[in-house]
Parts: sequence; C-alpha cells; structure tokens
Amino acid sequence: MPKPTYRLENPDTEVYIGDCREVLNALPEKSVDLIFADPPFNWDVPYGEWDDGQPREEYLHFTYQWLDACLRVLKDHGSFWVNIPDDTAAEIVLHLKQRGMVMINWCIWHFRFGQHRTGNFIVSKVHVLYFAWDRNNRIWNPEAVLEPSDRAAIYDDPRTRRTKQPGLRVPLDVWYGPLWGRIQGNNKERRKNHQNQIPEVYLERVIRSCSNEGDLVLDPFLGSGTTCTVARALRRRSLGIEYSSRNAQSAFERIRSGPVRLNATLSQTNSFMVHRRRGGNNLRNHTSDGLETPTE
Ligand SMILES: C[S@@+](CC[C@H](N)C(=O)[O-])C[C@H]1O[C@@H](n2cnc3c(N)ncnc32)[C@H](O)[C@@H]1O
Repeated sequence: MPKPTYRLENPDTEVYIGDCREVLNALPEKSVDLIFADPPFNWDVPYGEWDDGQPREEYLHFTYQWLDACLRVLKDHGSFWVNIPDDTAAEIVLHLKQRGMVMINWCIWHFRFGQHRTGNFIVSKVHVLYFAWDRNNRIWNPEAVLEPSDRAAIYDDPRTRRTKQPGLRVPLDVWYGPLWGRIQGNNKERRKNHQNQIPEVYLERVIRSCSNEGDLVLDPFLGSGTTCTVARALRRRSLGIEYSSRNAQSAFERIRSGPVRLNATLSQTNSFMVHRRRGGNNLRNHTSDGLETPTE
C-alpha cells in the first residue's frame, strides 16, 4: 500500500502523489463512499508532469482504466461523479452503463465565459455525470442542498409556504450562477498556477448531497485540492491523488487553510428571472468578486 505524502487528522485527509490508476489499485476494494473525478480533458493543458496531449486511442485507454480503478474501490451504496466536456462524455456514459452502473443524473455545469471562437458555438458547459450502483440504496441527502424555488422567490406563490420545506426545492440539473463561473481572473477562490479549478459551491453540492459526516470522499485528479478542501470543512474523510508534486503541495496548503465560500449559496435563488413586482432577485446581492471574469 503506498503512503500518503501529506496527511491531516480529524477528519483524516490524505494526499497521494502518483498516477491515480496505481494508487487506486492499491486501495482496499469497496472502501470509498463518494468519488468525484475531474480528469485531464486531453486539451494540451500544461499540467506540469502529466502529458495532456495523448493520441485519442491512448487517452481513451487511460480513461477506461481509471474509471474501472474507481469502480473497484467504490462501496455498494457509493456515488460516482465525473466532470467531463463534450468530447468524451458519451464514451464515459456508455462505459459506466456497460459496467452495470445506473445513471442518476446527467447534470450540466453552465458558465458564461468560454474560450472565444468563430468556427462554431462557444463552449459554455461541462457534463456532470452522477452514477451509482443502486438507485434505491445510495447516500442521498436532498435536504442538505435545497435552494429557493422560482415559484417562491420570483412568483410569491402562496402554495409554496405550505410545503414540508417552505419555499425550497432540490436544485435543477443545470448548475449556474454568480459563484458557479470558471475560477479565473480576480475570483477570490483562485489558486495561482492551477488549471481548470472547479468552484467550491459545485463540490459543496456534490459532497453534501451524496455523503455524510465521517464518510470517505475520493478525488483521483486532485488538482488545486477543491474536493478535499470542501470535504474536510464538511467533516468528511478524504483522499486525493495528484500526479504533479507541485500541484499536490499547493493543494495540501489549500486544504489546510480551508474553503473561502462554504455555505455561500444555500439560501440564494439562482433564477435567471427577476421578481415579478420588486424586479430584482438575490443574484444582485453578490459582489463583483464572485462573478466570472473573461480571460480569453
Ligand atoms: C482538471 S485538473 C483537476 C482540477 C480540480 N478538480 C480542481 O478543482 O482544482 C486535472 C488534474 O489531474 C492531474 N492528473 C493528470 N493525470 C493524472 C493521473 N494519471 N493521476 C493523478 N492525477 C493526474 C493533473 O496534474 C491535474 O492537476
């Protein structure tokens, strides 16, 4: 069994440096409650040691290998989330279905500042695939991620006050909003020298809804450390794997200092609509710090 390079206690938080396929294959079978994976997209991003420009066949081979290594360590009631762009979403969905997993949601993470282009429509989304082994036997905490419904926040519909959770609903499967942009520019979450950092609110939703305190959360592509940072703050144990030693060190520093936006969106509507009489909505309460800033 490899040893973690970085480690914290209470709750246990471990960072391993290496190829996730090797580390995963050395972990005990069925030992993890929740996996969140945001792999390299093979877009020639300078990740340091990792070659992000592999021939397509090699990249697909790598993809199927890490997917299978994740499935081996996932508990029977576990959840598996994958963040992936258009290029490889179909292959991943098919592979997981062929391995017997059940798709619970195919969510979309929508952001407003994609890379400028003229040859086709500008990319403004990533696929957020949510799979489990068993739809009826999985950790699922909808009450931990409720948000104001449009019916309550925008239309003042009195019927929403008579529900079990007045005015609240489970979030939609398209995720967006001022704090949901790509982390770049002067965003206060931003970690220098990291590529494709995911917003904390995104991981908070995944971790709160699909794990409980004390559970083990795993991220095979730790990057800047978003998953372990949020998991630790939410009292989950976590294990992150990162190929680049520089990234792993920086991620560990971030995990130690903690998140900057915990609980930031739980009571906010993220509706595009404005209140039918007052004209505004909670989106306008945010400072510009949280907003996306274009870079390309
Ligand atoms: C898309 S980034 C992850 C970003 C992360 N979700 C965040 O919020 O910062 C992918 C990361 O995976 C790492 N990586 C690439 N191949 C790897 C492998 N085989 N095993 C472990 N880490 C790998 C890269 O160095 C990079 O830091």
